[in-house]
Amino acid sequence: METKTKGKFFDHGRLERNVSLLGIAALITVAIGGIVEIAPLFWIDNTIEKVEGVRPYTPLELAGRNIYIREGCYNCHSQMIRPFRDETERYGHYSLAAESMYDHPFQWGSKRTGPDLARVGGRYSDEWHVQHLKDPRAVVPESIMPGYAFLAERELKAGDMSRDLTALNDVGVPYTKDDIDRANDDLKAQADPDADSSDLLKRYPKAQARDFDGDPGKLTEMDALVAYLQMLGTLVDVDSAKPQEVGR
Ligand code: HEC
Repeated sequence: METKTKGKFFDHGRLERNVSLLGIAALITVAIGGIVEIAPLFWIDNTIEKVEGVRPYTPLELAGRNIYIREGCYNCHSQMIRPFRDETERYGHYSLAAESMYDHPFQWGSKRTGPDLARVGGRYSDEWHVQHLKDPRAVVPESIMPGYAFLAERELKAGDMSRDLTALNDVGVPYTKDDIDRANDDLKAQADPDADSSDLLKRYPKAQARDFDGDPGKLTEMDALVAYLQMLGTLVDVDSAKPQEVGR
């Protein structure tokens, strides 16, 4: 007896018995799923949710970041707090995608010989950082971190920072023409306690301008690196997001 395969709208029996037809139909079905996921990406400019406070790095912070990368700090330190309780209790609010949206290359890292540094800014004094970077065991006796005392001796030779800013601008970091033109002056002004940094602060909100390495007479690599460490995780007011989450 012939089994009834014809549905009300569609001859399913024919489809299931013809492997080529089934293959084509499966392909079309999967393609629809793919298009629904992929197509919107062609029309939206940004997949990262905007978060208030996130701004591009100042030239000094950027120079410090370059030293951080040069010295391979990322081999032992991550910069991404994952949304797990053990992490958030130790390091603070989990990292937001927007917080690393201007990072090229990003410093999320996959190895934690030392602690995560995504929110280390403001946790210690400048003096602590300088001491710790010069001789980690002077402040944390059991530390296995290598010392970087030479950073305090070496004059910061950042090169032409306007070129760094231009390169980042090319990959989408919104530096203005003003930022680029003044990059080299901004670099010096941020670490010089006598300089007028009001213009810098207008263009880079929450930038911290002071002498960072305890030696105001000299702009060193230590100045730049400490300036970078002290701003990590300080731009976004993560606590403002808390009430909504707790109240849920
Ligand atoms: C060989 C691995 C290693 C390297 C490389 C390394 N660190 Fe560390 N770092 C550690 C360890 C371990 C600790 C925890 C003990 C301590 O505080 O010294 C640490 C601690 C720190 C802390 C304190 C963090 C906190 O929350 O207490 C900072 C800041 C830091 N490192 C910055 C740096 C910077 C900047 C560099 C690159 C110039 C660097 N580290 C390179 C292993 C490393």
